[in-house]
Amino acid sequence: MSDATKTATLTIDGQDYELPIYSPTAGPDVLDIRKLYAQAGVFTYDPGFTSTASTDSTITFIDGGKGELLHRGYPIDQLAAKSHYLEVCYLLLYGELPSAAQLEDFESRVTNHTMLHEQMMNFFRGFRRDAHPMAIMVGVVGAMSAFYHDSTDPSDPWQREVASIRLIAKMPTIAAMAYKYHIGQPFVYPRNDLDYASNFLRMCFSVPAEDYEVDPILARAMDRIFTLHADHEQNASTSTVRLASSSGANPFACIAAGIACLWGPAHGGANQACLEMLREIGTVDRIPEFIARAKDKEDPFRLMGFGHRVYKNFDPRATVMKESADEVLDLLGVENNPTLQVAKELEKAALADPYFAEKKLFPNVDFYSGIILEAMGFPTSMFTPIFALSRTVGWISQWKEQLSDPALKIGRPRQLYMGETSRDYMDIENR
Ligand code: SDX
Repeated sequence: MSDATKTATLTIDGQDYELPIYSPTAGPDVLDIRKLYAQAGVFTYDPGFTSTASTDSTITFIDGGKGELLHRGYPIDQLAAKSHYLEVCYLLLYGELPSAAQLEDFESRVTNHTMLHEQMMNFFRGFRRDAHPMAIMVGVVGAMSAFYHDSTDPSDPWQREVASIRLIAKMPTIAAMAYKYHIGQPFVYPRNDLDYASNFLRMCFSVPAEDYEVDPILARAMDRIFTLHADHEQNASTSTVRLASSSGANPFACIAAGIACLWGPAHGGANQACLEMLREIGTVDRIPEFIARAKDKEDPFRLMGFGHRVYKNFDPRATVMKESADEVLDLLGVENNPTLQVAKELEKAALADPYFAEKKLFPNVDFYSGIILEAMGFPTSMFTPIFALSRTVGWISQWKEQLSDPALKIGRPRQLYMGETSRDYMDIENR
């Protein structure tokens, strides 16, 4: 981490405390408060971490004001247009774009780890058929620590590497199996002659009764969706993975914790919630009613797919996703998709409304992704599993970065206690 460039003076009860300030390569300066409690006997208070940096990192940077997202310095729109998911995985994991030989080796290692331990199939059969695929993914990924004992020790760099490849390689297989189990169809094994996105589509949509050809344009759209969801700084699920890992938990347990956190509708579950909202709106003429509800402080309803903790401009991923939605729906001949029409009119109406403009609420990555996924044939319950599949490389990259920090300590926040002070036990006859 950089050396302190200047200091801030904090005065409490007439006593001055000097706090070092670090200047990043991009983004706001940070105040180092690590010694504050020892020196001043006070905590800082920031329940939603709105002003708190939990770590230093070199992986991803977001400029919320400009609507910019960089992975190791490369803008997401360039990566979405010119790269592909496994190359972005390499970039996130190792810090640089690979040479042709490096990429070939990496893709070969991932391709040759896509199968699951055969005994894990029994796991799926323990779930009810109507289990949400995210519930299955949390369970199966957590259970990987019971099957892959030779890659559970986070202190061993080789085991970290093996666990990374296994997780990136097997997530599409697990997500596809969760889907097949959910709809009562037989599992489809991965194939080594298909690229990552094509393999996933085939594992989801092929059936033994007939041949299945992957549409290359759908595969490209699927790969682009994977790329757009790969990593996103210290979001809630990534912070969950980091916190779990700070205790020394094994990689599969940490990623299972990340999946569980991503499931929430305020986070990765928003893509499912957004499509369900668009369906509930149903027609363009009902948009004003829902806009009014989103603005009503008495109504807990929020426009799903809108707003972001960091972006106070367009989420650059939403911009790419919107272009992809037009392309995919045209290809599928559903360009008059009523849900897409409602989404486009809703976006226009919200962005024209002072409430959303003042609060800088713009469409985020989840606003258009569900429309594409639905058009591709996925049920809404598969939207967040696809987000989890894509984000696995981000969680893994951040997990590896944290473990490479020699100063790593267990994460243990303090609190502002407002409860009862010490009092004696009262016997029941006296209460
Ligand atoms: C993801 O962190 C990441 O990077 C996440 C993510 C990633 O890639 O990992 O980008 C993925 O999670 C995208 C976000 C998906 N979630 C949604 O689309 C759900 C709807 N959005 C909101 O719930 C909300 O915008 C959040 C959770 C995304 C952000 O919430 P914040 O930063 O805590 O903001 P807030 O709740 O304090 O809202 C600020 C104001 C509030 O009004 P006031 O109290 O100031 O009057 O804006 C309002 C909110 O009521 N507001 C909304 C709104 N989002 C915020 N009002 C209506 N509709 C919305 N969607």
